[in-house]
Amino acid sequence: MALQPDLVHDRFHIEGGVRLVGEVHVGGAKNSVLKLMAASLLASGKTTLRNVPDIADVEIMSDLLRRLGCSVLFEGSVLTIDVPEVPLHRADYDLVRKMRASINVLGPLVARIGEAEVALPGGDAIGSRGLDFHIKGLESLGATARVEHGYVIATAPHGLMGADISLDFPSVGATENLMTAAVLAEGVTTIENAAREPDLIDLGEFLISMGAKIEGLGSPVIEITGVKKLHPTDYVTVSDRIIAGTWAFAAAMTQGDITIHGARVDHMEVMVEKLASAGAIITSTSDGVRVKMEQRPVAIDVATLPYPGFATDLLPFIIAMNSVADGDSLVTENVFESRFMFVNELTRLGAQIHVDGHHASIHGIPQLSGAPVEATDIRAGAGLVLAALVAEGVTTVDGAFHIDRGYPKFAEQLQALGAKVRRE
Ligand code: EPZ
Repeated sequence: MALQPDLVHDRFHIEGGVRLVGEVHVGGAKNSVLKLMAASLLASGKTTLRNVPDIADVEIMSDLLRRLGCSVLFEGSVLTIDVPEVPLHRADYDLVRKMRASINVLGPLVARIGEAEVALPGGDAIGSRGLDFHIKGLESLGATARVEHGYVIATAPHGLMGADISLDFPSVGATENLMTAAVLAEGVTTIENAAREPDLIDLGEFLISMGAKIEGLGSPVIEITGVKKLHPTDYVTVSDRIIAGTWAFAAAMTQGDITIHGARVDHMEVMVEKLASAGAIITSTSDGVRVKMEQRPVAIDVATLPYPGFATDLLPFIIAMNSVADGDSLVTENVFESRFMFVNELTRLGAQIHVDGHHASIHGIPQLSGAPVEATDIRAGAGLVLAALVAEGVTTVDGAFHIDRGYPKFAEQLQALGAKVRRE
């Protein structure tokens, strides 16, 4: 799906007050597939990725890979990437600014061809997102890395050397970049305080399927023994736990009943516990999970944390649900600086929320009231659409393109569950 200029002005038009009932299917995870695509640069030849979601970010990453000399073909949910013997090394600002995950080409390019120039990324407006862990880690592996004229420039003309790296915070992006660099370094690398997200494990397993030697995935210490060469692979992307979570909250908030096919309950344990304490009835099915709510949700306190904690990407949904829940609640954001920007929009729907630093205090009210609002990032956009479903009257959510970056056919899926939603 191409991000057409005219789509930038699209918005969602939602008439609230409908219980969502029915079935949805969850495909591959955005935050995994984008990294798998970048990591395909590690081997020349044709890599095939399956269960790839039809979202704008996949299109942006495809364009970036084409710019680096690859041929990319997307058919159905199968993406093939043909990587040349020597890819180009420069990722320009016009593409990188659209999506933070572009930075994931840094590690593979330095490891494979000994140089990379990647524009400092843009992406979501959720606070300043440093690259210091990425840069320091690459330096530990023997690269020289600096930021100049808006680009991260890293070189390692004589190859990378294994090293012991300890991250100050279990950053997902930094762990990924360092892991994808270390797989071709000489010797052993350990990454301490590594991220443990399922998307990161998926990337590790993808690399193993290319011939990499990695141990400790899913634990805080990852050990990588460098190999001389990797080969292309054929790999199925892990299911998107944040989209599955979005549907789970949609069911709970609208007092609905949604069966989510393809959801991995084992990747959403904390969220499932929280929804159960809010009153949801949650049952595992043969290929996913069913979430049913028979009464107004009970307000719940949540603090976001790196995995296996409650995911920061679910924050807008818990705030939206607590806005219409029975009781008062406190939601704390511990991963990003300013994920509460969307709260201003939610208060336009009548939500009673007070933000103080990293905390949001929420007083639940029985119903929100429809108004025009604007999406500021992917999850905030989806959160506003969920809030609109429980608002009386009409809500319009501007900035639909943010939602398109991460949710395939969001309006159509909502319609199939009975929601009165359309794009305009
Ligand atoms: C990934 O971002 C995801 N993005 C985010 O999802 C997700 O919210 C986040 O991980 C946490 O789970 C993608 O996978 C493309 P981090 P990432 O590095 O890798 C600080 C979505 O909606 N930090 O774990 O950028 C940073 O500022 C998106 O799908 C440094 O200070 O997250 C932040 O406060 C939004 N220096 C914290 O660490 C660094 O060098 C965690 O960031 C790196 C990070």
